[in-house]
Amino acid sequence: MFDEIAPTYDKLNHAFTLNLDKVWRKKIVQEILKRKYEKNRILDLATGTGDLALELVNLYPEVLVAADFSKEMLDYQRRKKSNPLIELVEADASNLPFNDVYFDIVTIGFGVRNFFDLKKCLKEISRVIKPGGRLIVLEIFKSNGVINKIFNFYFGKVVPAFGNRVSGSSHAYSYLFNSVENFHTLDEFGGICKEFSFEQEFKENNFLGIVNTIYFCKKSELKNNLAFS
Ligand SMILES: C[S@@+](CC[C@H](N)C(=O)[O-])C[C@H]1O[C@@H](n2cnc3c(N)ncnc32)[C@H](O)[C@@H]1O
Repeated sequence: MFDEIAPTYDKLNHAFTLNLDKVWRKKIVQEILKRKYEKNRILDLATGTGDLALELVNLYPEVLVAADFSKEMLDYQRRKKSNPLIELVEADASNLPFNDVYFDIVTIGFGVRNFFDLKKCLKEISRVIKPGGRLIVLEIFKSNGVINKIFNFYFGKVVPAFGNRVSGSSHAYSYLFNSVENFHTLDEFGGICKEFSFEQEFKENNFLGIVNTIYFCKKSELKNNLAFS
């Protein structure tokens, strides 16, 4: 499905968020600088057409890997606006081709919601991040109440009507709505991440409590703190 929407993804993303998605990605870079996070090796996972990876270039890391399992998305990123600092890797988040404890930061923009096996992916992400490293997740979360009603109308009716037509896909933007409906609330997601040693440091409410950026710190495994096993 992502292969199918690659050529129109950026345009529709910016249109549906009224360009706010650009602000949310830039904010991640500002927070990393403000909080003085280690940032030598960064992985932008589920990178898609690379808008977040292109922002992360501004941090001048030694290593910046942009990984995705969609070849079309990566090809589009390559053609769009390549930057020599970005190394593109075709990889599935549930089986990453990287060494243990390698990255200082892993970012995921609008990706976790699409992971087929979220826990398997979080286990892999936890494996490749250094203890004390950061996982930064920008995502649309399921919400309740009035906000949910507004969301249902916008993402359930308006976005599919335009998105499917412009992208030429019969279902991609209807999937977007279903993927949020079937995903977790912010609190549920935080709880799942905790199972994989990710402690929430803080979160940024980007839009009505629906679009959030969560900053997690990878804790040391308990077994590493024991003198004897
Ligand atoms: C909505 S796009 C997000 C693209 C970009 N990160 C952004 O900020 O706009 C979701 C991306 O997640 C990728 N994706 C979904 N599941 C994946 C997985 N298991 N492993 C790697 N990439 C995955 C898709 O191919 C797609 O490019």
